[in-house]
Amino acid sequence: MEPVVTAHQLRKHFGSIAAVDGIDFTIESGECFGILGPNGAGKTTTVAMIYCFLPVGGGTLTVLGKDVRHHSRVIKGCLGVVPQENNLDPDLTVVDNLLVYASYFGIPRAVALERALAQLDFFALSAKKNEEVENLSGGMKRRLTIARGLMNNPDILVLDEPTTGLDPEARHYIWQHLKHLKQNGLTIILTTHYLEEASQLCDRLIILDSGKILEEGSPVELVARHAGDNVIQIGIPHEHRQGLLAAAGTLLHGHLFIGESAYLFPGKTARQVMNSVSQMPQIGYIMQRPANLEDVFLKLTGRGFEGV
Ligand SMILES: Nc1ncnc2c1ncn2[C@@H]1O[C@H](COP(=O)(O)OP(=O)(O)OP(=O)(O)O)[C@@H](O)[C@H]1O
Ligand SMILES: [Mg+2]
Repeated sequence: MEPVVTAHQLRKHFGSIAAVDGIDFTIESGECFGILGPNGAGKTTTVAMIYCFLPVGGGTLTVLGKDVRHHSRVIKGCLGVVPQENNLDPDLTVVDNLLVYASYFGIPRAVALERALAQLDFFALSAKKNEEVENLSGGMKRRLTIARGLMNNPDILVLDEPTTGLDPEARHYIWQHLKHLKQNGLTIILTTHYLEEASQLCDRLIILDSGKILEEGSPVELVARHAGDNVIQIGIPHEHRQGLLAAAGTLLHGHLFIGESAYLFPGKTARQVMNSVSQMPQIGYIMQRPANLEDVFLKLTGRGFEGV
């Protein structure tokens, strides 16, 4: 099957800033595709070109087999969009936010009402149907924005940082809803800087930094490729960093220092590394844990990592 999104040497400049700097990726039907990266990496710029809000600066971008330069109207009709900033209409009630949005797509009122009630039910917002939007919690506003993005029965749902600023419970609740939507076959494109979110939801992802792709793969592949099985995390004062590395010896596959914490990547030699470094009297704590996507992210975005 053809990919639903194909980007080739995609670019976007704002003056002298290369927000998106020649990136290539494809997104397959039915997958959840993640775009990860630190602040300013180019995530919003990338998805905004996909949902035809920003014109493409260079290269090619096709969505559902159509060039975004020539078919933005048709593409917009097939996409659901959850932007980074909340843009619900504060003058409308919860249900009216959905109905007015549906009217932009020419959906007949009766159909729209049926869909709106189904969406409110799915997102556990039925009891808030006639509330003012301002009276909703942050998590409810976000769920309503996702519900709104689904009103036109899209083929692809694009979510720009869907859970930023939410408390952990609200975040997990949204993850559950997105998992259900994925199980029902919806293609999802998601930007995030929550690594746990990407691990939980994404089949495949790219890591962006300064407008360029640093890595691409499934969360499991990326962890195996860059961090291995285990990480040994150690509390250690700055002045003993070199001593720690000397104690770990040549067995390490890499390390990372953040503040007073050290992260050692021992590959298959975790037991030997644990044995040798745990003898150091300067160590505050030491623990071994499975490597995760956060370790990969920190390594690739260059925040304190030095490969050995
Ligand atoms: N309209 C604009 N005018 C000028 N510069 C812009 C504009 N939009 C984005 N930029 C710049 O382009 C770069 C990429 O921004 P973008 O918003 O795509 O990043 P992001 O990865 O979504 O960041 P965040 O995690 O903070 O949302 C940044 O340097 C940003 O300052
Ligand atoms: Mg953004």
